[in-house]
Amino acid sequence: MIQVLHISAECYPAAKTGGLGDVVGSLPKYMTQAGVLSAAVIPKYSLKWIHGREWITVYSGAIRSDWRTIHFSVQQEKSNALGFPFFVVDIPGLYDRPGIYNDPNGWAYGDETERYLVFQQAVLQWVISFPEHERPRVLHCHDHHTGLIPFMTKYSPDFRALAETPTVFTIHNGQYQGAFSWKNHNILPYYDAWARSYLDWKGAVNPMASAIKCAWAVTTVSESYLYELHENSLGLEPLFRLEWQKQWGIINGIDAQVWDPSTDAALQFRLETDSQRSTVNGQQSTVNSQQSFDIQGFKQKNKRVLCEWFGLPEHLPMVSFIGRMVGEKGSDLLPDAYRTYIHAGGSASFLVLGTGETWTQNEFRAMSHQYPGRVNAVIDYNEALAHQIYAGSDFLIMPSRVEPCGLNQMYAMRYGTIPIVRSIGGLKDTVPDIAEPDGAGRGIRFDQPTLSDIGHAIHRGAAMWHNEPGIVAMLRQRIMDVDFSWENTVGRYFSVYQQIGGRVEVVRQEQLAKAVSSAEVSTKARGSEPVAKKKGRGKK
Ligand code: GLC
Repeated sequence: MIQVLHISAECYPAAKTGGLGDVVGSLPKYMTQAGVLSAAVIPKYSLKWIHGREWITVYSGAIRSDWRTIHFSVQQEKSNALGFPFFVVDIPGLYDRPGIYNDPNGWAYGDETERYLVFQQAVLQWVISFPEHERPRVLHCHDHHTGLIPFMTKYSPDFRALAETPTVFTIHNGQYQGAFSWKNHNILPYYDAWARSYLDWKGAVNPMASAIKCAWAVTTVSESYLYELHENSLGLEPLFRLEWQKQWGIINGIDAQVWDPSTDAALQFRLETDSQRSTVNGQQSTVNSQQSFDIQGFKQKNKRVLCEWFGLPEHLPMVSFIGRMVGEKGSDLLPDAYRTYIHAGGSASFLVLGTGETWTQNEFRAMSHQYPGRVNAVIDYNEALAHQIYAGSDFLIMPSRVEPCGLNQMYAMRYGTIPIVRSIGGLKDTVPDIAEPDGAGRGIRFDQPTLSDIGHAIHRGAAMWHNEPGIVAMLRQRIMDVDFSWENTVGRYFSVYQQIGGRVEVVRQEQLAKAVSSAEVSTKARGSEPVAKKKGRGKK
């Protein structure tokens, strides 16, 4: 029986534009491995991965949207390729398009309000069709695209059968709230008239606000981000403060099976143990029980590849940026920061991978020509190349204005790349500065997304790289040893589910151990007992 159903607009590898996709593509797998069968459902887009799979229709239905009847079907991926049951909702006319939010030219689809309303209702109608005792015990909604589900289960007569099913709403990005005008009221499902205020925020229907009001629990993807939302959330601050008792900050994990430097097929050179290396060199094997890894070799060989591909010199530290070029990520600051650094005589090289705002893309393109051998940019979304850049770079820079969690710094650390990050949100929670006194530093932090702070941070990194190779080597080892996997985190979600009355049970005893111990929950939990006992609010 599916115990937790994750409902989302993205799920990697089927559909991803950013971290939301990564999380929804891996969290259900780790919950399932921990003994709590979890599934995910997203809309069926017209995308390559989706086309390449076989789908089995498990439900067909129809939704009213104003005067129209919109037919849909729910389909399950046949081979279970993701390691958990994965479903898509096929809604012809609304989602059979080649993009997730935007068309291939970057224009947003204009009918997002109707698209999400129909998707959310379709999911709920399908869930209600399950025999009552087989229904998911928790509906876990991600971001504003699914933000009206907590309202609908409580106040829409059509979905009242789910009124007792706890809903959890996870905020991956509070910048997008999905608000729309009340003029669209005709495409809303029927709802109790007195409950209208649960949809409203400042005169519009606001799915993010509605979810904060109606969900049984609200989580954000790091603890710092939760506090930041209380201070600054584009007008929702009073609401966050009012509803604080049901909010938790739970740092994301990463899929340590996908992001494994010793098996990653996307890498030109994988991480080897010293013994593997000496065998390869035809020398005597030095197997020891500690299995030390040849980190320097791994970094050096992969960097050499990047240097060859992008015409950058090996004798300079390589600082990379990977990600969406949007205001939140601060990528628009980098062209000027890089120029200033280079003209001031700084010695580092810069590599960029990503797509986004036209201005930033053009700046990076131009800089690749203006500064050959110092700057290069690939204006593209390329998952495999991203892996190679994580492996071969010396530093990864994230000058984010807002960063709810950030996964790239964790991928970078796992691949021995030192993060240079702004002190905000999840970056603050995962990257202590190397100058902090307790010796637990993992990277370089700066306070403000300004040219001077960024420049200073790059300078610190480059100076360390040139002058303190021993510290760089020690730091690489340290950050590669950090365990960012979901195994440490799923227990915190189980704990939240349990606190709001979600009857989630761990089914396989032997799988329980890891999740239980790392989540600091009762070691006595077994069989069908509830999983968690204690609030999981600790930081990683
Ligand atoms: C969004 C956030 C990012 C977070 C990701 C997954 O993309 O911007 O910080 O890591 O969601 O939760």
